[in-house]
Amino acid sequence: MTEFVKLTYGDNEYELPVIVGSEGEKAIDISKLRSQTGLITLDTGYANTGSCTSNITFMDGEKGILRYRGIPVEQLAEHSSFKETSYLLINGKLPTQQELTNFSVLLNDNSLVHEDMRDFYEKFPRSSHPMGILSSMVNALRSFYPELQNLEEEINMTVTRLLSKIRTMAAMSYKISRGHRVVYPRADLTYCANFLNMMFDSPVKPYEIDEDVVKALNVFWILHADHEQNCSTSAVRLVGSARVTLYAAISAGIAALWGPLHGGANQAVIEMLSEIAANNSMAEIIKRAKDKSDPFRLMGFGHRVYKTFDPRMKIMKRMCDTLLQKLNITDPLLDVAMELEQIALKDDYFTDHNLYPNVDFYSGIVLRAIGIPTNMFTVMFAIGRLPGWIAQWKESQDDPNWKLCRPRQIYTGPQTTDYVPIEDR
Ligand code: ACO
Repeated sequence: MTEFVKLTYGDNEYELPVIVGSEGEKAIDISKLRSQTGLITLDTGYANTGSCTSNITFMDGEKGILRYRGIPVEQLAEHSSFKETSYLLINGKLPTQQELTNFSVLLNDNSLVHEDMRDFYEKFPRSSHPMGILSSMVNALRSFYPELQNLEEEINMTVTRLLSKIRTMAAMSYKISRGHRVVYPRADLTYCANFLNMMFDSPVKPYEIDEDVVKALNVFWILHADHEQNCSTSAVRLVGSARVTLYAAISAGIAALWGPLHGGANQAVIEMLSEIAANNSMAEIIKRAKDKSDPFRLMGFGHRVYKTFDPRMKIMKRMCDTLLQKLNITDPLLDVAMELEQIALKDDYFTDHNLYPNVDFYSGIVLRAIGIPTNMFTVMFAIGRLPGWIAQWKESQDDPNWKLCRPRQIYTGPQTTDYVPIEDR
């Protein structure tokens, strides 16, 4: 039975239906609010606003739960591969062996990037940030791979191309930024091993694939694969609602992810930890993070939805310990991170504000151990988030009730003002 919320406004009373999700979370359906009452809602930053219904990812920020298509992320991190998790997110179910094999073949067949795109790469200034390059190049893919006539085939091909080529493009930007020869993808390697080989193989030092590193990368990407209506995903849905190509929508998602308050935080965390290690400035950093007059924030801490530990962070931290041990690496930044976490967790400011480490707090240390340079960290996040963006985009395009996303506003500027000719001003 539908529940209603009663709204009294002026002399009238309205009934707004309550929508209930499959995990019991509730929302007031305000889709007829303006037509019935003349009112709109105001929710800066959308902290109380659901932009859609979705059956892809469930998260509970109070309990620290994250599930993709109902499966706990902990189980996927332990048993699945990034490729299989991508299939799950995009197609809504785990693949059979045959489906997974077909998926692998498709990804292998589409892993090369058009040779002419290399000219583009070569012309970016060497100092360009790889996220800017990736966002531009993903949008440019449309020009190199024009639209197919059959809509279903077009969507499937675009999805496959993006998933496969993003690795090649990311590794290519790294190689070119170093002035090194580009390494081509290999059909005999798995999704993650292929990426690592394209990043690190060189004519003078062949890359030796280490299964512990491959496993770590699989887990890293699984943990980033989707996170419901976060900033970049909302960008993908919003831009996609104008019926742009999937390439353009993903390009917008990459641009949004780049921001330091979102995916760019993983780079910012390492920069912050390095700063603490170099200048012994732990106390100063904590002081600045708590100072209301200082815009500085403790990077890798806090989350819009999680008001407890981010479940991804727990897995990431465990993996960080295991990987460093297996590779016999001592990273002084890990000690700094653990000390900072302990201090923050005992500090009233952070506990009162429900600020706990998020996924980005330890992810940079994992990436450093794998050999990924700091300015590629957010690119690594983008590769991981791609299946989530695609799944969310597909869901939005298939929604029979989907509309152009177009929020409203409350105007607070001047009322009608006459134009004054320039000589009279
Ligand atoms: N350090 C210090 N104070 C913080 C932090 C932080 N990292 N995060 C939030 N706060 C404080 C704010 O100053 C504010 O304090 P006040 O209420 O006393 O004014 C309060 O906590 C609430 O902050 P909001 O910005 O309103 O919270 P919001 O939910 O919008 O912020 C965000 C979430 C953007 C992630 C924030 O916690 C932050 O900036 N964290 C640092 C950047 C970061 O790690 N981002 C990665 C997030 S995970 C991801 O995108 C993959």
